[in-house]
Amino acid sequence: MSLSQWLKPERIKPESFESSGVEVRVEEVVKIYKLGRGIEVQALRGLTLRVDPGEAVTVMGPSGSGKTTLLNMIGGVDYPTGGRVIVGRIRVHELPENLLEKYRLGVVGYIFQAFNLIPVLNAVENVAIPMIAFGVPRNIRVKRAKWLLEQVGLKERMIHRPSELSGGEQQRVAIAVALANDPPLILADEPTAELDTSNALKIIDLLVKLSREHGKTVIVSTHDPRIAVRTNRIFMLEDGRIKGVHTPAEITGGGEELLTTESLADLLKQKLAIAEKQLEELVASYMRREIGFEEFDREYQRIRGVINGLKELLASMGYHQ
Ligand SMILES: Nc1ncnc2c1ncn2[C@@H]1O[C@H](COP(=O)(O)OP(=O)(O)OP(=O)(O)O)[C@@H](O)[C@H]1O
Ligand SMILES: [Mg+2]
Repeated sequence: MSLSQWLKPERIKPESFESSGVEVRVEEVVKIYKLGRGIEVQALRGLTLRVDPGEAVTVMGPSGSGKTTLLNMIGGVDYPTGGRVIVGRIRVHELPENLLEKYRLGVVGYIFQAFNLIPVLNAVENVAIPMIAFGVPRNIRVKRAKWLLEQVGLKERMIHRPSELSGGEQQRVAIAVALANDPPLILADEPTAELDTSNALKIIDLLVKLSREHGKTVIVSTHDPRIAVRTNRIFMLEDGRIKGVHTPAEITGGGEELLTTESLADLLKQKLAIAEKQLEELVASYMRREIGFEEFDREYQRIRGVINGLKELLASMGYHQ
């Protein structure tokens, strides 16, 4: 859809999600921050990725690798220095500032690490704010705000202010705020960083449900492998570039549902040890001339790929081999 189609307040219904996802294309994006005195930081170095409509993906990578910068480029928080950001049919990098503001309001639901709620307003009022800015009529606003809070499991907390809510509850209000204008695209920047395990899992489930059940495109940046393994694909960032793309099954062999950070790390380490052993055996059998060079080379590349992927994932979880 073009931008003007997303900007019609009539598309906001009181008790449903009408808009499903959009495709996101990031093409050769460069982002340079200027710090004065000629000092520059190159946060993104020609980064390219594509996310399908309705897909949920994770962006992982060490601190400073460019995760937040990437989400900000996609979310229209700031302009890239070079390259293209195309969301559906919208060329985000070319939007003038007044339209960029509308794009953020109507197309993007942005969830931050630190909840970002307005302290003097209660939960319903916080959720209604983006709808006021978007021009949604009052009767629909209130009904929808209540419906959204119900969807995130906060039916009993409607008139609580942020200070009267737990961290997990505040983050769920923040998700309801992000969903207010029924955006096709949800961006979440380390949404569970401030939460304990049980609250983190509730947030993950909500985000994944938005993709699986409502077809929204969801992009989450995280250090948390429990989020990563529940999404369709994992993009590994390093130094402003995509270093690898993985599927959870490749990493966990499918049994991802019950994993904790520690058990996932153990599983990854076991798989790494197995792959390293396979590589040794492959070399040995080539030396013994049991296999030809072509087969050796093909298998060698494959196993090296697995090893690199596992090492990257472990490194992004803070385990260095
Ligand atoms: N507004 C800014 N001005 C100058 N440099 C910035 C700015 N924002 C980010 N950077 C720099 O750009 C690089 C990428 O930062 P970014 O915040 O995108 O990393 P990140 O992957 O989100 O890290 P973290 O995991 O710590 O949140 C870093 O070197 C950072 O210092
Ligand atoms: Mg960040």
